[in-house]
Amino acid sequence: MAKSTLAKTAALLRELWFYTAPRGNWRVRGRIAAAFGCLVASKGSNIITPLMYGAAVDLVSGDSGFSMKILMLVVTGYALSRLGQQVFAEAKQYLFAAVAQRAVRGGAMAAFQHLHRLSLQFHLDRQTGGLTRAIDRGAKGIEFLLTIAFFEVLPLFVEVLFVSVILWGMFGFTYAAVTFVTVMAYVLFTVRVTEWRIRFRREMNKADESAATRSVDSLLNFETVKYFNAEDVEATRYDEAMKHYETMAVRSRTSLSVVNIGQGLIIAVGLMVMMSMAGADIKGGHLSIGDFVVVNTYLLQLYMPLNFLGWVYRELRQSLVDMERMFGLMDENPGIADRLGAPDLIVSDAAICFENVYFSYADRPILKGISFTIPKGRRVAIVGPSGSGKTTISRLLFRFYDPSSGSVHIDGQNLREVTQASVRAAIGVVPQDTVMFNATIGYNIGYGKHNADQQAIEEAARLAAIDGFISRLPEGYDTLVGERGLKLSGGEKQRVAIARALLKRPSIFLFDEATSALDSQTEREIQAALNAVSKAQTTMVVAHRLSTIVDADEILLLAEGQIVERGTHSELLALDGLYAGMWTRQSDGFKSGEAGEQKPTTPVAEMMPGEPV
Ligand SMILES: Nc1ncnc2c1ncn2[C@@H]1O[C@H](COP(=O)(O)OP(=O)(O)OP(=O)(O)O)[C@@H](O)[C@H]1O
Ligand SMILES: [Mg+2]
Repeated sequence: MAKSTLAKTAALLRELWFYTAPRGNWRVRGRIAAAFGCLVASKGSNIITPLMYGAAVDLVSGDSGFSMKILMLVVTGYALSRLGQQVFAEAKQYLFAAVAQRAVRGGAMAAFQHLHRLSLQFHLDRQTGGLTRAIDRGAKGIEFLLTIAFFEVLPLFVEVLFVSVILWGMFGFTYAAVTFVTVMAYVLFTVRVTEWRIRFRREMNKADESAATRSVDSLLNFETVKYFNAEDVEATRYDEAMKHYETMAVRSRTSLSVVNIGQGLIIAVGLMVMMSMAGADIKGGHLSIGDFVVVNTYLLQLYMPLNFLGWVYRELRQSLVDMERMFGLMDENPGIADRLGAPDLIVSDAAICFENVYFSYADRPILKGISFTIPKGRRVAIVGPSGSGKTTISRLLFRFYDPSSGSVHIDGQNLREVTQASVRAAIGVVPQDTVMFNATIGYNIGYGKHNADQQAIEEAARLAAIDGFISRLPEGYDTLVGERGLKLSGGEKQRVAIARALLKRPSIFLFDEATSALDSQTEREIQAALNAVSKAQTTMVVAHRLSTIVDADEILLLAEGQIVERGTHSELLALDGLYAGMWTRQSDGFKSGEAGEQKPTTPVAEMMPGEPV
């Protein structure tokens, strides 16, 4: 391994240690120590067993004059040491399982929490599936490293050393040397060949992921596939990935045979050398038959667990990579972070102020010097062409992003200086696109406020004009909404989102095209309800349909990142600029009844008596 890899591994292990045995947690540390004690005891028994076995063989293979008493003693010792090896091994598992699982949970939990701390931008840039895979694999990596690598493989190497020393003491240097050399040859061979094999495994994983991505993507787009009769194309794409997997899996299996045969060969040669040496020594009268048995048993006892070495080594490498990726996520900068010791936002009037705000996504400037205020309890509407930055303004208010320059204030407090949680608690958002949890309607509405009771949920549903729809469902509030809420119509989803925001009872409302998916009748009903509920609250509305914001206290017309016109509806019409043009176009649409089904057409004149249309 290169030096940097070693340093990286050491850093990973330090981090792992932190999750395994947190400082000051003496119960866990005690458990680890006890498990370690059991490990030593079990290995100790393991080393004694062949000696007892050899002694017994020597006794019975000598003259028949051996004492039964001594034999019983030796045989009991043999049985006990075998049993002890197992009992201590199980005790070790028992003690350590809790420690390992706790570390797995701690690591996964920390990564999960951190993902929620990261910025919206981070998540827009990533694929969620990949992130959850990273956590899953990282957690599995922790488990593997702790249970198999530390408690099975590492001790094995210590055992090899001990056995070599014992063989040296009992039979001389050559026996120890042959054992040691055989084991080392075995290990080196396995590691080298496994390194070579790893690429098949990698290719397999890649093919596996690509097959999974293709199948998930294609199933998510179920409707689109049908629209374009593309089942065969999808199947072919999937099959391509699977074919690659097939090839690589076969290669991986074949190369495993190379490992197995090579390992077998090395062991066979080692055994042959050792046993012929022992045979010669018996002939020369230096060793007894018991000694012969001891040598043989030690070797077999060492090699058997080594069988798994190839697999362990590969998994070990993979575990380190997976853990690195998981812990790497935790080093990811949250982007938007609370200043150290930042106070909570204190809301009194809930007045909003944007001061000369500039903002870019990466290098794309979106907002160029936006300034406006929304005084206590007022309603300000933002209108403008698609892509002009309306949603971006609402994201700045919610502090999903910080402005590149300029500032956003609520009640005179710069949002950068207060905690994000307190800002978000003050704002109720109905976003442009609503995604639901795959749970019941009741749960999705109740998400607006923790521990909201059924009565409050139903009240919110009533205000959002979705109570009628829910009461007609056979399962009412317990109806499942499907993945991402796709079993609801667009307008139903929007009303659930409205109910959710109303339930929150925030000081500030932020509606981003909250009613765009509704027919004009329902829209008017909800608009009335929203106006009533948000009457006392400071409200920012983003709208395409101008008819919904005619009575706003101020209307800002956004174009190319700047506010090009501002004023009340009548002021803007009098200005006879862009807004007036948009208004005329939209009301023309109404008048000619652009879509015949929009009957009864809402006469704009009726909504805005006295306005020139
Ligand atoms: N996370 C992002 N990263 C990069 N660019 C983005 C991101 N979000 C939005 N944009 C771009 O910023 C511009 C403004 O987006 P925004 O969502 O604010 O528009 P909008 O005025 O709300 O439009 P619409 O009326 O269609 O909802 C768009 O051109 C969009 O492509
Ligand atoms: Mg938008």
